[in-house]
Amino acid sequence: MKKDKRKNLNFDSRAVYCPPDEATKSISPNIVMSSSFQYDAEIFQNIVDGARKEVNIYGRCGNPTEYQFEEQMMMIEGADACLATASGMAAISVTLLGLLKSGDHIVCDWTTYSSTHEMLDHRLTDYNIETSFVDTANIDAVRDAIRPNTKIIYFETIANPSMKVAPVAPLVELAHARDIVVVCDNTFASPYVMRPLEHGVDIVLESATKFIGGHSDVIGGTICMKSDLLPKDFLEQIRWNTMVKLGAPIAPFNAWLLSRGIQTLSVRLERACKSAATLAEHFEGHPLVNKVWYPGLESHPQHEIAKAQMPKFGAMLTFDVGDGDRALKVLDNLELGCFSASLGGVRTTTQIPALMAFLDIPKEERLEMGISDGMIRVSVGLEDVDDLIADFGAALSKM
Ligand SMILES: Cc1ncc(COP(=O)(O)O)c(C=O)c1O
Repeated sequence: MKKDKRKNLNFDSRAVYCPPDEATKSISPNIVMSSSFQYDAEIFQNIVDGARKEVNIYGRCGNPTEYQFEEQMMMIEGADACLATASGMAAISVTLLGLLKSGDHIVCDWTTYSSTHEMLDHRLTDYNIETSFVDTANIDAVRDAIRPNTKIIYFETIANPSMKVAPVAPLVELAHARDIVVVCDNTFASPYVMRPLEHGVDIVLESATKFIGGHSDVIGGTICMKSDLLPKDFLEQIRWNTMVKLGAPIAPFNAWLLSRGIQTLSVRLERACKSAATLAEHFEGHPLVNKVWYPGLESHPQHEIAKAQMPKFGAMLTFDVGDGDRALKVLDNLELGCFSASLGGVRTTTQIPALMAFLDIPKEERLEMGISDGMIRVSVGLEDVDDLIADFGAALSKM
């Protein structure tokens, strides 16, 4: 199928369709594991002339399996360009280091994945790049934080782990009126739930490790772009001037696993979102649960925003059981649900954000981020939802 026709398919078909390999006609993508590629005089001349993406040079610069995965990601995000990276954090670091220079300023939501927050709050400050942390659901606060040197507005479409939903269109309008680039991390939502580029965001980042891979067996990240503010070849520029220098390319086998994961994204997420909504309602009525955060609940502070910008509310939710000891008892007593650091796999996984991913962040900052000590994060998998309700019910009764 021609690319233009493919682009116009509905989301589920775009996720599944993969063109056959031209040489072998295999309908499953091939893997090219080679770290190095043979030159001839023509290839050599191409490289000398700067047509470096047209040929294969060396695994750190690019790989045919990576390009296949990037094309699939462009299709599902609605992007004009994509760059795949070794991890979600590599996608974030390459993007920030590629866009920013000393003296620049970022406006970022208070709540982002812990390593992102630490990168902005500590690491980039060492290079004279400052970040103002604000509540991006409050447009006035974002406007007030913008400075003449602000280059990026950054947020997570659904924040990890507070579940805050950023109002994307107003943020884009505010930023673009000032030529500020909008970058968001869409990991918690996944492209099935939210496609930020369709709402005017310039760059969308994914930890493909999570819902895109979907089976807890691969690490990877993507940077997808559709932007009038950046040069059309911006991702190719940062491939060469940042990613290759940091040494952060995706491994070919990982790109292959992720290409395979994309094909079942819709069916996995359809089930997981439905179960997450059922679990969220169940927890909201549970006598041992203090509070539940899920964008699909009317009690969620940005429920109306979520309804307006997302066709589904996602497979992530959090709830509070009072303190860290009680939270630990619940997770340690789960039998079907898995007490584990990551998210987005076929199994339901849980963690205590304050005591795990956000442990290194001072308590006052954690509270500002909306992370209480007794908060439990749940990534809802594909188990039968009645079995999950029974498993959580039994674990909660042991607190
Ligand atoms: C929202 C979010 N962004 C980025 C990352 C980093 O992804 P990776 O572990 O693939 O580097 C994570 C990891 O948990 C995450 O939750």
